[in-house]
Order: sequence, then C-alpha cells, then structure tokens
Amino acid sequence: MFLPASTVLPRRRWLQTAAATALTTLSQPSLSASAMTIRLSHVVARDTPKGMALERFRSLVEERSQNRIRVQIYPQGQLYGDHDEMQALQLGAVDMVAPSLSKFGPIGFPEFELFDLPFLFDSVEAVRRLTRGTIGRTLLQGLNRQRLMGLGFFDNGFKHMSANKPLLEPRDFRGLRMRIQGSRVIAQQMRSWGALPVVLPFSETRRALETGVVDGTENPVSNFWTQGMQAVQSDLSLTGHGYLGYAVVTHQRFWDNLPPKDRNLVQGALDDALVFGNEIADAQNDKALAALHLTGAANIHNPSPAQTQMLKKASAPVHVELATRIGPDWLNTVQNALRKTS
Ligand code: SIN
Repeated sequence: MFLPASTVLPRRRWLQTAAATALTTLSQPSLSASAMTIRLSHVVARDTPKGMALERFRSLVEERSQNRIRVQIYPQGQLYGDHDEMQALQLGAVDMVAPSLSKFGPIGFPEFELFDLPFLFDSVEAVRRLTRGTIGRTLLQGLNRQRLMGLGFFDNGFKHMSANKPLLEPRDFRGLRMRIQGSRVIAQQMRSWGALPVVLPFSETRRALETGVVDGTENPVSNFWTQGMQAVQSDLSLTGHGYLGYAVVTHQRFWDNLPPKDRNLVQGALDDALVFGNEIADAQNDKALAALHLTGAANIHNPSPAQTQMLKKASAPVHVELATRIGPDWLNTVQNALRKTS
C-alpha cells in the first residue's frame, strides 16, 4: 500500500487501513469477475415477438442480479447475420443467439428440419407440446454435439406468403423466385409448388425484394411488417402453411464458466422471458396484420379451403423426402407425439 510521506497515521489506524486495502484488493477480482455482460445477437426488429422476449430477458437478468449481470442486445443483424451468428457464438464473439429453428439444419442438426414441414402443425399449441416434451429435450441435448447448449424454445407463429400477386394455390407460384431460409425442407416445399427457392439472409431480404433479385418470400406477419416489406410487396396471402419458432443457444464454454448461482439466475430469467414471448407472439402478429389492414399497405388474401388443400397435397412429398433423408424413425416419433396430443 502506498501512503504519502506526509500522512502520519497511528499504528492501529494504519493496520486497519492496510487490512481494508488488502481486503478490497483481494476481493476486487472476484467482484469484477462476477460482474459481466452477456452479449446477445439476433436478426429481427426490437418490436417483434423475438425482439420483445429477448428485451424481457435483459430486464429480468439485470433486475434480478441488481445490474451485476448486464445483457447487451444487438438486434436487426447489426452485429451478425443468419450465416455468421452461430460461428460468432462458436468463436466466443457473442454469448447467446436465438436463431429460427430453420437455421439449425444447415449447420449439422437435420433433426430440427421437422419444424419446417409444410402443414405439419395445426396450431402453435401442437408445436409447444412437442417442444415442451421429450422431443424438445432431445433436440436441445443434441446441440451438445457441437458444444452448444440449447436453453429453450419460443414461438413467432405461422408463416404466410408475400409477392406482387396473390399466392393461394400451386399454379400461382410457378416460375417465381422465392427467398427462403437455408432449409432443405423449405427449398423442397417451394419447388413442390413450382417456385425457385433462393437462400438469402434475413437482413438482405427486403432489399432483394426491392431490387427484384427475388419475387416473394414467406414469414409471419410481424417480421413482414417490421421489415417494411409491404413497401416492396403488394400482396400478402394468409396461407399459414408453416411454423416459425426459435431456440436460444449459448456455448458450453460460456455456460460452464458461469457460477452455478448465475446459471440459475440466467436460466430462470430466460424461462420467464420465453413464457412472456409466447404470450405476446400471437398479439404481435395480430397487431401487424391489423396495421396492414388499417394502412391498406398490402392487399391481404385468404386462401379458400380448396386452395389450401391443393397446397397441402402438392407439398406432401416433402414429408416423405425428409423421412428418407434423415430416416423415418425420428418423424414417426414426432407424428406419434402429435397424435397423442391432438
Ligand atoms: C427470424 O425471425 O429470426 C428470421 C426469420 C427468417 O430468416 O426468415
């Protein structure tokens, strides 16, 4: 300890000061080691179901840790896009990501592709019963193959089709270039309706639609509205043909380095935030649809039951193709679980 020469302290005071200084110095590393910032990257807007759920996660973590643990969120792909966020996580450049479930197939987890199957789920509740049961646990545990830790699932909702024309039955898709996520199942779905799938990162989609690189795309209404896609797509067809949801993922290295107390705090805050996310997802999609109606920014179409049936029939081989590619057992397990819960 350094004391200025002019400072003369009684020996007892000096010892107390020295001890206090030593204690502070000793305790500082552990204090600062336990104070930390979790860096979380995602690709959509703040006012989407995902953006809002992760914002709730941030506020719960900060409140429950009395700001000892901070969460820094990078939305809208401002740090990393679809293609590099997983790599950033692997390299430790971010601590958590929340990609859509369609982003897991291309990086070595084909079992996640079940979520992309057209017309597999008749409601978000059916999806939740899968993700909350053995199948969900198996999927999250499987991420350990790449030293990733799956912390939970949450919903956006059902996807619809946009283009500069209505897309209600297979013949409407013929020859269209449709932007998709990098999922083989979604690619095959588009082909089954006569379209040409084009894989593009989410952050490049609006521009690609604007410049005519692609003609149309699919997404829940909240993503469509918050990206301003209505300015570059005249028609939205409410096909509800497929599901879009997310998994929150961290790296084993980051998780193992957290003291057990903090791990519990983070997991607890996330669980609560994901419940909140699921509660508001429908409302956010409904709000976006209401805004589209109100502003008249896009023509909204509802397929007839016969048209939906045509889409369903044409895309049925996509289910068979996935079963052939990843083996029938996994999809049989999924089908059985869905039957049990319906
Ligand atoms: C997302 O909601 O995270 C993006 C979905 C997409 O890439 O279409």
